[in-house]
Amino acid sequence: MCLRHADVPSGSTNVAHGREVLPTNVKPVHYDLTLEPNFEKFTYDGTVIIDLDVTEDTNSISLNSNEIDIHDATVSVKGAVVASNPEISINKDTQVATIKFSDSVAAGSSAQLKLIFTGCLNDNMAGFYRSSYKMPNGETKYIASTQMEPTDARRAFPCFDEPALKAKFTVTLIADKSMTCLSNMDVASETDVQASKKAVKFNTSPLMSTYLVAFIVGHLNYIETRDFRVPIRVYATPDQDIEHGRFSLNLAAKTLAFYEKAFDSEFPLPKMDMIAVPDFSAGAMENWGLITYRIVDVLLDEKTSGASRKERIAETVQHELAHQWFGNLVTMDFWDGLWLNEGFATWMSWYSCNAFYPEWKVWQTYVIDNLQGALSLDSLRSSHPIEVPVKRADEINQIFDAISYSKGSSVLRMISKYLGEDVFLQGVRNYIKKHAYGNTQTGDLWASLADVSGKPVEKVMDIWTKNVGFPVVTVSENPNASSIKLKQNRFLRTGDVRPDEDTTLYPVMLGLRTKEHVDENTMLTERESEFKVPDLDFFKLNADHSGIYRTSYTPDRLAKLGQAARNGLLTVEDRAGMIADSGALASSGYQKTSGLLSLLKSFDSESEFVVWNEILTRIGTLRAAWLFEDSQTKDALKTFQRSLVSAKAHEIGWEFSDKDDHILQQFKGLLFGSAGMAEDPTVVQAAHDMFNRFAAGDLSAIHPNIRGSVFTIVLKHGTEKEYNVVLDRFFNAPTSDEKTTALRCLGAAEDPALIKRTLDLASGDQVKNQDIYMPLGGLRNHPAGIEARWTWLKSNWDAIYKRLPPALGMLGTVVQLTTASFCTEEQLKDVQAFFQDKDTKGFDRAVEQSLDAIRAKVSWIQRDRADVETWLKTNSFLRDGKL
Ligand code: BES
Ligand code: ZN
Repeated sequence: MCLRHADVPSGSTNVAHGREVLPTNVKPVHYDLTLEPNFEKFTYDGTVIIDLDVTEDTNSISLNSNEIDIHDATVSVKGAVVASNPEISINKDTQVATIKFSDSVAAGSSAQLKLIFTGCLNDNMAGFYRSSYKMPNGETKYIASTQMEPTDARRAFPCFDEPALKAKFTVTLIADKSMTCLSNMDVASETDVQASKKAVKFNTSPLMSTYLVAFIVGHLNYIETRDFRVPIRVYATPDQDIEHGRFSLNLAAKTLAFYEKAFDSEFPLPKMDMIAVPDFSAGAMENWGLITYRIVDVLLDEKTSGASRKERIAETVQHELAHQWFGNLVTMDFWDGLWLNEGFATWMSWYSCNAFYPEWKVWQTYVIDNLQGALSLDSLRSSHPIEVPVKRADEINQIFDAISYSKGSSVLRMISKYLGEDVFLQGVRNYIKKHAYGNTQTGDLWASLADVSGKPVEKVMDIWTKNVGFPVVTVSENPNASSIKLKQNRFLRTGDVRPDEDTTLYPVMLGLRTKEHVDENTMLTERESEFKVPDLDFFKLNADHSGIYRTSYTPDRLAKLGQAARNGLLTVEDRAGMIADSGALASSGYQKTSGLLSLLKSFDSESEFVVWNEILTRIGTLRAAWLFEDSQTKDALKTFQRSLVSAKAHEIGWEFSDKDDHILQQFKGLLFGSAGMAEDPTVVQAAHDMFNRFAAGDLSAIHPNIRGSVFTIVLKHGTEKEYNVVLDRFFNAPTSDEKTTALRCLGAAEDPALIKRTLDLASGDQVKNQDIYMPLGGLRNHPAGIEARWTWLKSNWDAIYKRLPPALGMLGTVVQLTTASFCTEEQLKDVQAFFQDKDTKGFDRAVEQSLDAIRAKVSWIQRDRADVETWLKTNSFLRDGKL
């Protein structure tokens, strides 16, 4: 992009660090913002008066504005108008409005910029937007809500839309008297405007970034708790049962109190509101004092939702509350520091979830969830460093990904183990205190941690945040010297690392586990080093998988570790992490897939949910990669899965009782689903029985923990009859969780006519944009579904592009979803060809990452097709006659 292009007003942008940012001639101090939404025309009228500190003599002011019609501008200094109706030019590309006037304003003065504008209450879930819900009588109603992060505050009102340009906000909303108006702060005054309207003025906020501003207008119900120092409320539209907010409400009260202690810093706002918004592009958003949520991520009906939904809500609520300090009070200075926000909130939500629900053992889950998510994406050539330069608005949305969230939090988990959790948290407290109401860079966090620990934190951590990727550590053994030799190399899923891509030497925290001890201090900092091990009989690297790396053992050692697992020498995290490593190493060619299969087979006596979960994930990954292979091999893999899972599934059963703890509920659900998908006849029969009773009107016949599995098992070979039953639940179930579970499952139906119905549903307007990935995702388990949805994307590209403008982030998800399931060379070429001549701005990462993922599968299959077949034969899952 050329910034000197003729239509760019000079001085409208500044390219510090190569970033497209605003010039620094003025600095916003305070916004007085008034907005009046119109629910008939879906527009809003706005006035903003921005107090500015002038830092240079100037006769132009540039600020961000996107799709807003600015009618009128006035610049004044100390009440005297300097310019009325000055020239306003808009650069659509950089989303900057520049106001030019002839009398210049002197450096050191305070100026006021008043803008009068009209905006559109759009239906794109960005800026100030409309969100709809249906009343029981079928009537569609609207609320107006906001989503500003990362760069859509400029879509709601003209503003200096950069995280470091913090200012105070005084918001006034004008609406019908029957409506509720909410913003970040509490209400200062309510006055009548005409007979039917009111103006609700909110108190002035503390210094904050524009991306955290929020306002909401609509008919809303709420519940409130006074269990915390300031009132907390959960709001929802009248079509929802507001009592379903009780779990989140109570958890928020406990969590805010917990965080005040953990951060040693009082929550600075006078209230905390949380609202379920019917249309919401992400899961939730941490607006200061007014957190917005997707309905399913905040409202819980314990009677009709399963344990995993409850856990997700707890995670989401705690994540957004953690941001109230980490993100809102202390904010990254620009978006390349996004990981500070998201990585930390992720780590913190796990930390507090573990404190409140120790029986959920969430840190075990972390190893198969965030850690694997991080390693998976970061094993692609098209990954990026945690601290990634982002220049333009359309690049920012794309880094809300597993690198910022999961690798970011994994880096923090690693350093917290290295320093000790208490020292780590003390450093965080100091950091919060030092930078409250300010902006930081990654180095500021490292400095606080170094101060408190006396350890060279920056030196160690910089390498992890500034470089892409992570290493695989190859272990060779020297029995004579009782030592192990370790060598690190960059790990790529495609297994084709070039020397120039393998130049970073990571400080690898080895976490060497021996019989009595875990060594948390030793690091591998060189390419290769030798380490003494007290007893080569038993050792394992990466204890609890606190380090960000994969370990490649010899096949012999891997077998011994399998034995050690059975002998109780390894923790749950060790077992799950070891399986994950083995799976990743097999799929990338560092080990043989037969080795993985043998390892998995040796875990048939495993007792823990998290380990089983990883075992089944890895079989799932293998089966997904082999999806376009011949049916005999695929059947053999299915038989293998059944042989592993059936006995255990039958043992723990699929009857649920109130006495089942949180993990057991999910364990039963996991094994039932897996056995059913592997066509265990008893499970399939049970699924059909439950489904038939359900279809006949007994809605309690299917337990919420296995609702999705039962639907999927039955739909797989189902007809229109079963499809219609599930579809009816999408339309008519009372809760959003039940509706969306049904929507996610429809794609399991393999009948071509039913595949078409699923795709038609995705195209139509009965599925909200926020949920469009759900019917599409359901098609991923069968070749016909995968092919049909790709054809659908190709033939409807223009309409889909229009429906999901790339700047909003959802198009990337849909592109990834519709392409990443492919496994063959021809499919790879097809995807490549389709996007070759398209403008992929706003979703180019998604395309690249999909292509990389397909490439990795193509090579995996080529490499290990015969190896897998031989193993399946040797182990009698495949008859010898084949080939
Ligand atoms: N700040 C994000 C919301 C967000 C996401 C804004 C993407 C803009 C683009 C929020 O704190 C968040 O991370 N939400 C998560 C939930 C969380 C439990 C990981 C989400 O939306 O999935
Ligand atoms: Zn977040």
